[in-house]
Amino acid sequence: MRKLIVAGNWKMNTSVAEGVELAKKVSEYTVSKNLPAQKQVVIAPPFTHLAPIAQVINADKVILAAQDCAATTNGAYTGEVSASMLKGLGVKAVILGHSERRQYFKENSEILLKKIKLALAEGLDIIFCIGETKEQREAGANLYNNVIKAQLVDTVFTLTPEEFKKVIIAYEPVWAIGTGLTATPEQAQDIHAMIRKAIADNFGQAVADDTTILYGGSCKPSNAAEIFAKKDVDGGLIGGASLKADDFAKLIDAR
Ligand code: 13P
Repeated sequence: MRKLIVAGNWKMNTSVAEGVELAKKVSEYTVSKNLPAQKQVVIAPPFTHLAPIAQVINADKVILAAQDCAATTNGAYTGEVSASMLKGLGVKAVILGHSERRQYFKENSEILLKKIKLALAEGLDIIFCIGETKEQREAGANLYNNVIKAQLVDTVFTLTPEEFKKVIIAYEPVWAIGTGLTATPEQAQDIHAMIRKAIADNFGQAVADDTTILYGGSCKPSNAAEIFAKKDVDGGLIGGASLKADDFAKLIDAR
């Protein structure tokens, strides 16, 4: 059965002290909910916060994720953090391909595939983000569907089915990230169904049925339940609303 996930991507926000407090609250809330194993909570704080947060969360209940990892294993790469370093901190998953990494740091499919392989080699799960820009959305369904498919074909679709089982897809329309604009539940469902069909065409229906596909982009307590209720939406990757413990708790409840 595929997992239902509410994941918080904190991006470059909070001090270490604030982050530790937030993580404690998320952990306490999640523990108090006694969620079934199918339902998971993930938090992805900044690199600097991972070690202290690993000490304060219940790692059986909250999955600690990083927001990125290096495309190389080790060596003279000033400023980079490798997948194995993350693993050593108790990190279980890594977000890769976020549109902010693609846009501001020029990460393309070639770089992303290197990161994916290195993260998988460390046994990390991958939360792989895909999605179209505003211009691509406005150019029509043919174009944006092809853009989204190409983001998969060039990367995670080259993995073996066994490797792909470690991949969670996050559909994040770029026009909806941090803008207050949310995809309607129907728009999200259409794309999620298209993604699941593409996975089925590539890996078979059983793999597609088991793949978790998250929605991300201005998800908040007031709109999440409606979006998460859609058949092919298995939860959310939450930015802004994951920074407030109360809002994130409501999002956990919405899934
Ligand atoms: P917002 O929820 O702030 O729109 O961010 C979504 C996102 O980019 C999560 O990765």
